[in-house]
Amino acid sequence: MKAAKQIQKAVFPVAGLGTRFLPATKAQPKEMLPIVDKPLIQYAVEEAYAAGIRHMIFVTGRNKRAIEDHFDTAYELESELEASDKHELLALVRSVQPSDMDCSYVRQARSLGLGHAVLCAQPLVGDDPFAVLLADDLMTGPPGGLPVLTQMVNVFQRVQTSLLAVQEVPREDVRRYGIVAGEPAGNRVIRVRAMVEKPRPEAAPSRMGVAGRYILTPAVFDCIRKQARGQGGEIQLTDGIAALIESEGVHAYEYEGRRYDCGSKDGFLEATVALALDHPEVSSRFRDYLRKLDLG
Ligand code: G1P
Repeated sequence: MKAAKQIQKAVFPVAGLGTRFLPATKAQPKEMLPIVDKPLIQYAVEEAYAAGIRHMIFVTGRNKRAIEDHFDTAYELESELEASDKHELLALVRSVQPSDMDCSYVRQARSLGLGHAVLCAQPLVGDDPFAVLLADDLMTGPPGGLPVLTQMVNVFQRVQTSLLAVQEVPREDVRRYGIVAGEPAGNRVIRVRAMVEKPRPEAAPSRMGVAGRYILTPAVFDCIRKQARGQGGEIQLTDGIAALIESEGVHAYEYEGRRYDCGSKDGFLEATVALALDHPEVSSRFRDYLRKLDLG
């Protein structure tokens, strides 16, 4: 039997404009918006790191310098903290970039869609399966359980095909997601038979919506390169993955945990409240504050 491939690289498409968060995103990347005290992109990078991934590949665009700076050494800040004996803060700042983690950056010169962004990462990914994380989707594992990408890496060891995180979504929301349909193939796993990007509710093959976590085989690059423009005139990742259904097979995994759509104001606020209630420094005072609110 062939040895199961390990996932060593993660791709973070971060070139999007963040128009849903203007004016906050006029001069800063949406991925740098904080939930409590960490930017969205850091939650995604930490999730990849927890899943054993050490090479992070960012597909960036104009106005995204802050992301590169965030994962780089901050000499001035670090020497100031050192000089003033603020060791805890120093450790916190340094923990953003563990010494065994590598970061690479590639520019997506034009906004041609998520599939195109992933294709930009091909020279850095090479010929091995890799993860894709959309930082807008903040994912939390179940209390005390494994983070979502770690769950997926474990399932990938078994299925050895491209694997998509999915959740059931309300019928009226299917138009906001890639939707998959298929048949059960083990605990929480679906063998995908059809996949479509943002269908109309009446045309949707199911209510299983793709969340922003993928493990993909490198064959997806060729599929993306060959495909025509899809929904919204964009080069869709969904269409590239759909082309793998016939050739290699694709699975979907109903993850355990929660997804917060932090690309929307509602989801961003929900994540802020949920993570604040779970944050060792602020949770108890914040809980008291919420209890006393008159929501009349
Ligand atoms: C993208 C994908 C979509 C997926 C979604 C998850 O859409 O194209 O298939 O369901 O992410 O967040 P976007 O939210 O970028 O429009």
